[in-house]
Amino acid sequence: MVRVRKTRAEIEGRWREEFVVEEEEKITPWPAGASFRYIGGRVKTVDGVAKVTGAATYTVDVSLKGMLVGKFLRCPYPHARIIRIDTSDAERIKGVRAIFTHLNTPKIPLYGGASNVFNTVLKFQGEEVAFVVAEDEGVAEDALEAIAVEYERLPFVVDPLEALKEDAPKVHSEGNVFHGGPSRVLRGNPAQGFEEADLVLEETFRTSAALHNSLETHSTVAYWTPAGLTVWESTQAVNHVRQRLSQIFSIPLSNVRVICEYMGGGFGAKFDPGKHTILAALASRQTGRPVKVVLSRSEENLSAGCRAQTIQRVKAGFKRDGRISAMRLEAIINLGAYAEWVPLVSGPYRMLYQIPNLETIEWGVYTNTTPHTAMRAPGFTEGTFGLESMMDMAAEEIGLDPLEIRLRNYAEKEPESGVNYTSKGLRDAYLIGAEQFGWNYARSVRRENNMVRAAGMASVVWWGGGGPPAYAEVKLNRDGTIQVLTSTQDIGTGTRTILAQIAAEELSVPIERVNVVIGDTSLELFSPGSGGSGTLASIGPAVRAAAIDARNQLLDIASQFLDAPREILELKDGRIQTKEGEKSISIEELLTQLGDFALVGRGARGPNPDGYAVETFAAQFADVELDLETGYVKVLKVVSSHDSGRIINRLTAEGQVIGGVVQGLGYALLEQRLVDTSSGTIINPNLLDYLLPSSFETPEVTAIFVEPLDIHANNLGAKGLGEPPIIGIAAAIANAVSKALGVRITELPITPEKVVEAMKKAKEKTR
Ligand code: MOS
Repeated sequence: MVRVRKTRAEIEGRWREEFVVEEEEKITPWPAGASFRYIGGRVKTVDGVAKVTGAATYTVDVSLKGMLVGKFLRCPYPHARIIRIDTSDAERIKGVRAIFTHLNTPKIPLYGGASNVFNTVLKFQGEEVAFVVAEDEGVAEDALEAIAVEYERLPFVVDPLEALKEDAPKVHSEGNVFHGGPSRVLRGNPAQGFEEADLVLEETFRTSAALHNSLETHSTVAYWTPAGLTVWESTQAVNHVRQRLSQIFSIPLSNVRVICEYMGGGFGAKFDPGKHTILAALASRQTGRPVKVVLSRSEENLSAGCRAQTIQRVKAGFKRDGRISAMRLEAIINLGAYAEWVPLVSGPYRMLYQIPNLETIEWGVYTNTTPHTAMRAPGFTEGTFGLESMMDMAAEEIGLDPLEIRLRNYAEKEPESGVNYTSKGLRDAYLIGAEQFGWNYARSVRRENNMVRAAGMASVVWWGGGGPPAYAEVKLNRDGTIQVLTSTQDIGTGTRTILAQIAAEELSVPIERVNVVIGDTSLELFSPGSGGSGTLASIGPAVRAAAIDARNQLLDIASQFLDAPREILELKDGRIQTKEGEKSISIEELLTQLGDFALVGRGARGPNPDGYAVETFAAQFADVELDLETGYVKVLKVVSSHDSGRIINRLTAEGQVIGGVVQGLGYALLEQRLVDTSSGTIINPNLLDYLLPSSFETPEVTAIFVEPLDIHANNLGAKGLGEPPIIGIAAAIANAVSKALGVRITELPITPEKVVEAMKKAKEKTR
């Protein structure tokens, strides 16, 4: 009998309730000390060769017969009204097939109706004004130039503090504050907590808007035929894009197919169908031909989102022994021109330490800049910089080792709800990480001529428990090959490989025989988006359940073939045998004898456990070297020590850690989207002026996984890992820089100019 129950699941702190249909008996996680052929190994990626040889098909590689090219005309101003738009010259250009503007495009509401595909009032530089469809790119570009637009420039505001002022230009008629006011969380009695504190510190921290810069820009190919709409999309969520397109165009879900075979990263910016997707579909419907749109790097960086810029005013009270007695955060968060949610900068303040008295106030502020999107641990990467800088400031004042002050504020239970964690290995992550790093804070400062070295650390909390709904099938074919089917996509983390490992493990077959088919909604096996570090923990358990279902069916069939009771049969090394071994048959033999029959195992992700928090943790350590003459900061070494539950593949897990650490290093030292406040335009929407870390800046990175046994979270005991590695790096580097300099830099990125400036200040102080 199937049972229906409700469970809660979350993506990046946005909770939802889900019904779960439980089909089979609960599958328990593998026990401690279980031995594996594939799980936990350094299994090389099953699609690595396809990727490096160019055989893998990305959206940009999709080429269909008769395919047209679509391109956008974008607003050059931060705030403007379209007075007049004339496309007649452009329409006359040979090879132009269609031009869409607000005049001839149906209203398609976005951001809950606050915006449309085309607006007459444009609220940020790069907002879409017109869309040209042509036979080739050159023609499309000529047509864009031939469109005449008359704009009325409107007063604009690009700075969130300016936007909060009474007389600031209004981004929206209702005002510049998201939902009209800040969101507040209050715990205990902060006023009393500050009164009882032996030490009270106040500081303001600032973080920059950062750009995703996925290797693959946003891209789509849409083809509308009488049978329905097919879209190849570079997306983190094929099912979500399908649902949105079905809503937008009022067509049945079954008439929309979304395909994403391979993608070159998303980092949070690729959940929703973009205007490029919607217009490509409209254009294909109108022309009857497939339409392709690939955003250029600068279009991407003007219109596809960013990590929100923040200002964090932090007040923290500590007891003499280092325990936090009260904390207050007031955060100003630059959402850009539109937003559906506010990144949770308060997240780490609320979740990382046992803080008895806490107040957090978060202002989401609209400005005439690119609407923000999720970006790898949105809110937490920003908030952790403020919180973990403050922890080091207190440690310094009190005379405690930074590691010690963190241990003294360790949360044994989830601080906000008071519930237990399904598992928490942060203490081990601290201690093992510190040992591996050679943490010796007091002696970490070493000066030689103009160079000074020092160490710093930070802690990390994040979600990543995943959840239902997620469904998979594991198919055993007559030739002995196995297919894992589920419509999830691979954001680039190695999803195909880990799913193949899980199936190969449960069916005891060589992984080479497993083929994973994903990235296509027409499989009709729902699975959630690749986000919130939740892909593995959501879909992995469903694949394991499907593989176990297939194995059970296999044993049932074998018992009849071998004429042996089911209870004495076991599956080992690809053979089904009686316990004594006197009767046996290999999986291939059995399947071959069965003939044209594919055995199909089905699996569903079970509910999340009631009354537990599923969270991930890390301790990150950095060694930096600073040039006192130039202010240049070089990161020499990072040790990133993680509790992400059971690790399924050590190789792909290390890939996530190295990638996150390097992206965090960029955020710490290099990356900032710069806005010219006089014109309101973006100075560096390109890869020349927006600095990203390269191999030159990449330090030695050591990944540690502490792997606590987690028997509650899901049937794998695995938790997320995609986002945690970026979260604490900026704070760890800032803390090391502060130790080296003897003065703190409170604003990211820590550029050479800021280091030189800070040194000047330090000198003045000592004079
Ligand atoms: Mo993420 S920021 O859920 O890709």
